[in-house]
Amino acid sequence: MASAAVAISPSAPFPDAVQIVPFDAPLGAEVFGLDLSRPVDTATFARIKQAHLDHHVLVFRDARITPAQQVDFSRRFGPLQIHVLRNFQLAGHPEVLIVSNIKEDGKPIGLGDAGAYWHSDLSYKEKPSLGSLLHAQELPGEGGDTLFANQHLAWDTLPQELRSAVHGRLAEHSYLAKYEELRARNPYRPALTQAQIDEVVPVQQPVVRTHPETGRRALFVSEHFTTRIVGLPQDESDALLAELFALSTRESLVYRHQWQPHDLVFWDNRSVMHLAAGTPDHERRLLYRTTIEGDAPF
Ligand code: SIN
Repeated sequence: MASAAVAISPSAPFPDAVQIVPFDAPLGAEVFGLDLSRPVDTATFARIKQAHLDHHVLVFRDARITPAQQVDFSRRFGPLQIHVLRNFQLAGHPEVLIVSNIKEDGKPIGLGDAGAYWHSDLSYKEKPSLGSLLHAQELPGEGGDTLFANQHLAWDTLPQELRSAVHGRLAEHSYLAKYEELRARNPYRPALTQAQIDEVVPVQQPVVRTHPETGRRALFVSEHFTTRIVGLPQDESDALLAELFALSTRESLVYRHQWQPHDLVFWDNRSVMHLAAGTPDHERRLLYRTTIEGDAPF
């Protein structure tokens, strides 16, 4: 497993030139020389978009941007999705989900256990997320890393018998799959209203999806949201999914992001799964997430 510490600051030929430096890892790159608090011109935006497709996770260090600037930049990639947990929207910015373990007056200010299981954001929607942007506001002194696993490599390296077993199959994804289990562990997670439950009816997605922009195949099942492979008896489906979950998150596919102040991390939910490694209760962690809508997987 590799971390961002390996990205070496490039020697820029021009003071303002944007440079994209891949990590020595199965995915990820750092973007140097881009001030996201200023408008990004069309040519630079095209480079960022291509780098996102090539590397799947982009890291912008020391991004001094406001929530409005995060929303504006995110929106250039597509419409934004509003998370079903309206309780944790940032005031004045419904497109921003507060990811935080902080409690004020005994109440959580954000979703503290977001990302506690490997997942791709909003895979339980007919149109799951294209990508998500997470901006660090306050970081813990220990813990709080985010792990990303390359699902193109997961598919490319899957043993032939597993490829044959899943090729052409659909799997069910449900937001509710682990909701009560998470609530039991974290009573601060709100009970869902009937309207919220109606908003997240389970959907069926291909087990192997084709990236709509690059044409690359990727595994698209996760321990958080995938409940069963359609058409298989539950015990067979459970066994197959357990194998897929283990193989798709093995260390050789993973980049571990160690957060630095003001980091903005932008990942491609069509190419990677991610996991929040966890933060000790006595530490404070606060990040703002925007989520871009993608296409229906095929
Ligand atoms: C998420 O799953 O959106 C949050 C990940 C994290 O907190 O590291």
